[in-house]
Amino acid sequence: MKDPVRIAITGAAGQISYSLAFRIASGDMLGKDQPVILQLLEIPPAMDALSGVVMELNDCAFPLVQDIVATDDANVAFKDADYALLVGARPRGPGMERKDLLEANAAIFSVQGKALNDNASRDVKVLVVGNPANTNALIASCNAPDLDPGQFTAMTRLDHNRALTQLAQKTGKHVTDVEGMIIWGNHSATQYPDIAHCKVAGKPAPELVERDWYENDFIPTVQQRGAAIIKARGASSAASAASSAIDHMRDWALGTDGKIVSMAIPADGSYGVEKGIIYSYPVTCQGGQYQIVQGLDLDDFSKQKMKATEDELREERAAVEHLLG
Ligand code: NAD
Ligand code: LMR
Repeated sequence: MKDPVRIAITGAAGQISYSLAFRIASGDMLGKDQPVILQLLEIPPAMDALSGVVMELNDCAFPLVQDIVATDDANVAFKDADYALLVGARPRGPGMERKDLLEANAAIFSVQGKALNDNASRDVKVLVVGNPANTNALIASCNAPDLDPGQFTAMTRLDHNRALTQLAQKTGKHVTDVEGMIIWGNHSATQYPDIAHCKVAGKPAPELVERDWYENDFIPTVQQRGAAIIKARGASSAASAASSAIDHMRDWALGTDGKIVSMAIPADGSYGVEKGIIYSYPVTCQGGQYQIVQGLDLDDFSKQKMKATEDELREERAAVEHLLG
């Protein structure tokens, strides 16, 4: 049996975590042979609700769960954490953009960045889910000077998965037939879901769908899917967000076997996106590391879309400069 790993989840009494914690506990993230210690963080008013979640986790009698820590102290939650899923943050309501949450949520991520810096495993892998996820990840990273910025990532996997399904349904194929999907940029309405390098059942996707559908249906549908769910459900996506968080962490930890996925990671100049923001790129993962897929040709349409989402991330950065240390 492997040694247990410590997995911190913030916002552990919230909607997303109500799916996420149970799926991690059952081995969906790191495998059915990887014991886990769950370290659950909430704010004081939600500690009663969190105690109920812990009762339910215990009642599942998960074979892989070695211990559960429930706390309102970030230093305790992140102690020796190998993985940290930063979910705790306010969700947006109808009519809001995710960046409208910056003011409410940004402070959370400076505090948690410091707590990760002071307490987590030196190899911790951090995924920020709480919105606006890219800029919150930047804030956390800037407040953790002893950790490598590359350890801080944000979630665009939900957008990636949404895009896979839209394209699969349009072409009458299965999601597993689609390769090479890319989400560029911000987890926001400016994100650029790019099918230029996609193949569906081995055929180039741009040859299978009309340009008009791609530009005027597919792209806006993926960009606006979060808002559509809020409108329909009266609450933001939860089970699908948890599922994508599991996909993101599993692939980062265990590898993608050559498959391209989308992860928001520190920009490094690749594709002309200079440092200073957390930008979603096509990556492959191997041996616990991600690598940006290089050398893709970009047409003018792509360049313009990639620049628009980059510009938005730089604006978000400017708005939180005082929290970047
Ligand atoms: P929720 O309101 O149901 O749960 C959030 C929880 O976080 C609450 O229980 C709250 O008490 C807790 N919390 C607040 N401040 C905290 C802090 N400082 N430390 C620890 N916990 C704290 O919300 P949810 O539906 O679970 O969504 C959580 C976040 O995830 C939102 O910001 C939402 O917009 C975002 N989200 C992101 C994606 C993505 O793709 N990146 C997808 C879905 C939702
Ligand atoms: C989503 O994409 O579903 C989440 O970011 C929630 C939201 O605010 O749209």
